[in-house]
Amino acid sequence: MGVRESEPLDVATLREDFPILDREFDGTPLVYLDNAATSQTPTRVVESLVDYYYGYNANVHRGIHNLSQEASIAYEEAHDTVAEFVGASGREELVFTKNTTEAMNTVAYAWGLNELGPGDEVVLTEMEHHASLVTWQQIAKRTGAECKYIPITDDGYLDMDAAADLITDDTRMVSVVHVSNTLGTVNPVADLADLAHDHGAYIFVDGAQSVPHRPVDVQAMDCDFFAFSGHKMCGPTGIGALYGKQHILEEMEPHLYGGDMILKVTFEESKWNELPWKFEAGTPNIADGIAFAEACDYLDDIGMEQVKTHGEALTQYAYDRLSEHDDVEIYGPPADDRGAVVAFNLDGVHAHDLSSIVNDYGVAIRAGDHCTQPLHDVLGASASARASFYLYNTEAEVDVLVDAVDEARQLFA
Ligand code: ALA
Repeated sequence: MGVRESEPLDVATLREDFPILDREFDGTPLVYLDNAATSQTPTRVVESLVDYYYGYNANVHRGIHNLSQEASIAYEEAHDTVAEFVGASGREELVFTKNTTEAMNTVAYAWGLNELGPGDEVVLTEMEHHASLVTWQQIAKRTGAECKYIPITDDGYLDMDAAADLITDDTRMVSVVHVSNTLGTVNPVADLADLAHDHGAYIFVDGAQSVPHRPVDVQAMDCDFFAFSGHKMCGPTGIGALYGKQHILEEMEPHLYGGDMILKVTFEESKWNELPWKFEAGTPNIADGIAFAEACDYLDDIGMEQVKTHGEALTQYAYDRLSEHDDVEIYGPPADDRGAVVAFNLDGVHAHDLSSIVNDYGVAIRAGDHCTQPLHDVLGASASARASFYLYNTEAEVDVLVDAVDEARQLFA
């Protein structure tokens, strides 16, 4: 379906694009509130996969025949579409990866291993996802560099005074999550980019939880690298993207070698292909790349401002409803200043038990550490329950969650 930019979301109609939302479990309708983990996939994105496999499945950049040409053009144009979706200047700046994690690892291995050494520092935040934290931690171990962490304030914001102290001339990379998958905090990445650049460092922004939910312009925020995943934004699993400023990607050596990433090979040496193919060794994920672009088009047709506004309203509603009882602790900034996630704990009930009880109501939420164990240590919680919203969710679904939490409260009273 298409929604004009000026209109609010017609959620009832839009839900028809997602057949999975009609699922029931023993007569109980599914309430899908685990969108930060993965979003659901609209029919037209699934159809783009079917069209590819039924219509023009062939390897790319390897054949003169018609099918290969069709597949190559569609795969290349998919890069243009995804690049445009986040404000990159073109396909040269947009490498397809498996997901956000692989995009992080690409920069860590291709840039970090070659560039970092003793005395160098990588500045992260206490709210980093393991994808960023573990990756830089391991690269630091191998290179002798050191990781430092910008602390969070009591209300879940980054301590920007501490950031200004921690980012110094020893800093080579600032790696920061754009929207926290646990706290919902929307970090001031443009300010952090300024701080990093003032000291000659690069900034890598983890956009896994921002690109699906708000308009993003990588050039406006002046980040050097930016990563996101298709499956959290109505696309298929197994495809994501690394944005990098063209001049930096040009200077970087690839870290995966093989077919398609080369221009010329002799027994003695090899020359690398042009961007972005230099970083896409081997047969790529052609079908999912094409479907990723279809997901971007789908969201574009709806309007990312509308998606953002809907997510904010639903988050505010969920925050308010869950806060009706004092025994619920919600982590992160106030309701009117966060992404579309609400992580919380119900006093006296482990998050896993809570998740299991709400599952009986058909409600899918995530329970655990959400791949942010060090952040949970800072919060003083071993785990939390997390509801996360997307364009097809409704206030009525939030009410089902709140009823289920009430049931848990009564069971454990
Ligand atoms: N990073 C994803 C989440 O937060 C999987 O659930």
